[in-house]
Amino acid sequence: MEKSKVLVVGGSGYIGRRIVKASLAEGHETYVLQRPEIGLDIDKLQTLLSFKKHGARLVEASFSDHRSLVHAVKLADVVICAMSGVHFRSHNLLLQLKLVDAIKDAGNVKRFLPSEFGTDPARMRDAMEPGRVSFDEKMIVRKAIEDANIPFTYISANCFAGYFAGNLSQMGTLLPPKDKVLIYGDGNVKVVYMDEDDIATYTIKTIDDPRTLNKTVYLRPRENILTQTELIEIWEKLILKKLDKSFLSKQDLLSSMEGLDYASQVGVCHYYHIFYEGCLTNFETGEERVEASELYPEMPSFCLRNDTVAASFRHHVDGAFSSSAS
Ligand SMILES: NC(=O)c1ccc[n+]([C@@H]2O[C@H](COP(=O)([O-])OP(=O)(O)OC[C@H]3O[C@@H](n4cnc5c(N)ncnc54)[C@H](OP(=O)(O)O)[C@@H]3O)[C@@H](O)[C@H]2O)c1
Repeated sequence: MEKSKVLVVGGSGYIGRRIVKASLAEGHETYVLQRPEIGLDIDKLQTLLSFKKHGARLVEASFSDHRSLVHAVKLADVVICAMSGVHFRSHNLLLQLKLVDAIKDAGNVKRFLPSEFGTDPARMRDAMEPGRVSFDEKMIVRKAIEDANIPFTYISANCFAGYFAGNLSQMGTLLPPKDKVLIYGDGNVKVVYMDEDDIATYTIKTIDDPRTLNKTVYLRPRENILTQTELIEIWEKLILKKLDKSFLSKQDLLSSMEGLDYASQVGVCHYYHIFYEGCLTNFETGEERVEASELYPEMPSFCLRNDTVAASFRHHVDGAFSSSAS
């Protein structure tokens, strides 16, 4: 089967740049949106140029110029959007409505993958304020896609390892603790930690697959499901040291929101749903909601539990050793 031509929007971003790489690696003709608004952001420009060096085609377009977006979309069969959606970093999910309009007008797109890559927003209709904003906005984009009859795939990627595994799921840091660790509840709720490169590879695998058309695809390999306690144990084995553990009750987590800024409150809500409610694992996948490792069993070697977690720790191990030695 001929491979689809792919346009990646948000391609210089955290998950977007991995999706560009995966698309090229899987042999797709790959276009990456280049926005004039990047201005003097030299890092972004160099990221884009490095894609070009590896065979991607850069296509100029702006979210403030509908015609340019339509032109970009017309070049591809599949559009993947990795628009920012993390409050403490950058959050522009609703801008995707402009992309949906462009896809509708272009009329050629066989599949659209909007910027999701987290908890399935359709399962979060009772989520807490203010954190529910992320889910609500993703649902607004879904409604626009479905109202316009655009074929879609929604990727539910669970917890990015870089944000949740490398820091033992501690809020406000990306580094693993060396002495003390905070455990949510009893630490035994099952969570899904996903390596970002695996997320990108799975994403690309879905795009030409009829089994994922108009479906939500959960990235939930069995080996990647582990509790916070199990995650901590992997780190403790690596640094040959037990950490001091304290346990945070649900009430204490929720009351800690008071006085926090908006972005942090959003984060606390997400932690609550993941680590206390178990929102990533308290349901089964099925007909409408397919699971990626079942669709692509050739992938597991990338996704062994210790590989995924250890990969996010790898950069920290030396630091932890030198610090405990000093
Ligand atoms: N599950 C998890 O643990 C997790 C963690 C983080 C993020 N996510 C999800 O992953 C998705 C992508 O997040 P990310 O952290 O990868 O995003 P990001 O790196 O912060 O940003 C991605 C891209 O968004 C585009 N963008 C930002 N502001 C824009 C604007 N005003 N106009 C046009 N484009 C704009 C930029 O595209 P250009 O390349 O064109 O500049 C940027 O590179 C989101 O849906 C987010 O919720 C999930």
